[in-house]
Amino acid sequence: MKKKLLHLTVNDEYHELYISPKKLLVEILRDELGLTGTKRGCNTGACGACTVLLDGAAVKSCSILAMQADGAKVTTVEGLADGAELTPLQQSFLDHGAFQCGFCTSGMLMSATAFLQEDRATKDIKEGIQGNICRCTGYNSILRAIKAVAEGKYKEEGR
Ligand code: FES
Ligand code: FES
Repeated sequence: MKKKLLHLTVNDEYHELYISPKKLLVEILRDELGLTGTKRGCNTGACGACTVLLDGAAVKSCSILAMQADGAKVTTVEGLADGAELTPLQQSFLDHGAFQCGFCTSGMLMSATAFLQEDRATKDIKEGIQGNICRCTGYNSILRAIKAVAEGKYKEEGR
């Protein structure tokens, strides 16, 4: 199949890549750009491990073709911290021990980041991560970590 030119800004870096139109966004991020913080679990849109932000919205990158993101801005987990300076949410995950094996963590962080940027008054935190599965069942600490940021406890720290 003829390759197509993909224009993608990932973590504020602009890329132009010739790719097979059949490639998934997660494949481009991991295999072409080396951003392996985005995990690939179920590959069927069920686990959320591959979640990234696409123009600010949380999407499962195994569920969309890379060409569907042509011209868009993507943020992966690598794009959250500013060097050694973690986002408030990342710091809260650390402080609350909100991970065990860590496989779900990047997806959880991206979904929760999108959630925290929305109008949260009408939403339950559980809704914000309802598309993300933690196989280690560490949901309580994850929810506590997100709640602490939602309540403004990390406002002064990080960005
Ligand atoms: S790998 Fe994409 S949802 Fe599981
Ligand atoms: S910490 Fe292991 S899958 Fe969530």
